[in-house]
Amino acid sequence: MAEIVDRITADDEGGRIARTLLFPYLNHAATMYGDGYATAADIDAGMRFGCGYPIGPLALVDALGAKTVVDGLNEQFAQTGDPLHQPAPALVEVADSGAAFTGEGADGTPVPTVKRPVSSVGVVGTGTMASGIAQVFAQAGYDVVYVGRSQEKLDGVVGYVTKNLDRAVAKGKLDEAGKDAVLARLTGATEREALADVDLVVEAIAEDLDIKLELFRDLDRICKPGAILATTTSSLSIRACADATARPADVIGMHFFNPAPVMKLVEVVTTEATDPDVDETVRALCLATGKHPVSCGDRAGFIVNALLFPYLNDAIKLQESGAASMETIDTAMKETKLPMGPFELLDVVGNDVSLAIQETLVGAFGHEGWQPAESLKQVVAEGRLGRKTKAGFHTY
Ligand code: CAA
Repeated sequence: MAEIVDRITADDEGGRIARTLLFPYLNHAATMYGDGYATAADIDAGMRFGCGYPIGPLALVDALGAKTVVDGLNEQFAQTGDPLHQPAPALVEVADSGAAFTGEGADGTPVPTVKRPVSSVGVVGTGTMASGIAQVFAQAGYDVVYVGRSQEKLDGVVGYVTKNLDRAVAKGKLDEAGKDAVLARLTGATEREALADVDLVVEAIAEDLDIKLELFRDLDRICKPGAILATTTSSLSIRACADATARPADVIGMHFFNPAPVMKLVEVVTTEATDPDVDETVRALCLATGKHPVSCGDRAGFIVNALLFPYLNDAIKLQESGAASMETIDTAMKETKLPMGPFELLDVVGNDVSLAIQETLVGAFGHEGWQPAESLKQVVAEGRLGRKTKAGFHTY
């Protein structure tokens, strides 16, 4: 921890880059907390378990000293005039009172229990997220029915899971029998009717509201009464999906992170209509699959994307300003113990996905300072989407 604080406060280029990019991120986390959108424990767990950060933003403010962050933000605000750099009231309050955002011990939230028994899970979609989610449930012992549009796409899911399990076998973490048992729990189907008997459906299809609404109308027709219907959307309204069904109380958000088998976070997103039993069951299921659930409301970006993507966008704008190269910025942030540099992470997430999320955040929050960076729009227009197209900000 002391090492991270030393890096961020260092009087060298790396320290300046870290402060330029991290202070507005810490400020936004304080705003999110001050708004009452999520608890301090969930905001911090979000960044630790969703992005592999060694420490959550509010605990980092406490470690740095809220006054240091307030002073740094005031300096930035004097230069930029961007209201996003004006210290958040919650941050100023903590700085003035000498209190801390985070305390020791549990936050008092009772451990959730399963209220609606779940033994079989349906996954709709065959992309990276759907494949990873299918793997998570199969590895935790659930029977999984995954639905795709063609046999070829279904084979892709098996290929993804097999590759990950082979890696675990090669590392001695799993044996061949264990691998076969996980694969045997996966059943592919090209017809949604195969979801008629599952207890929970998690959809991870295209991030397009009309496509999702059509799916939810269909799930409403197909699934048995009492089945929980979850979406892993990262940017669309859960309530809109819920209202496409005649059972909005059974609809919830389960936002997994990439790569789903590795990242421990699931943002559990409830609407005013969600049945508390559905919420509690889903949080208990997350724990049963080795994931860490955090609770948040149905708002663009939830906890993690609302904090992460403006920071990634700021990193691009810093590079555009000529202040530092991509490599220097990636290195500076990894020296603060973030698992990846911002440009490396953008390429993993996909620049098209990142641009869409950033546009959604601007639409929802209206911050001018969050407008997508020009070079983000440019790489997307050129089809340089990241690792998936072998080129993005970096080349692969
Ligand atoms: N699929 C499955 N498993 C993978 C994997 C993949 N794509 N990549 C790595 N792994 C596994 C490895 O097998 C290894 O497993 P074990 O520990 O069981 O052996 C583990 O992950 C660590 O892998 P490595 O040692 O090879 O690599 P690493 O230490 O560099 O870690 C990483 C890789 C876990 C991805 C790490 O770099 C990290 O945490 N990165 C941050 C990722 C992140 O921020 N994700 C969130 C993006 S935002 C999002 O997803 C939300 C949205 O809506 C877009």
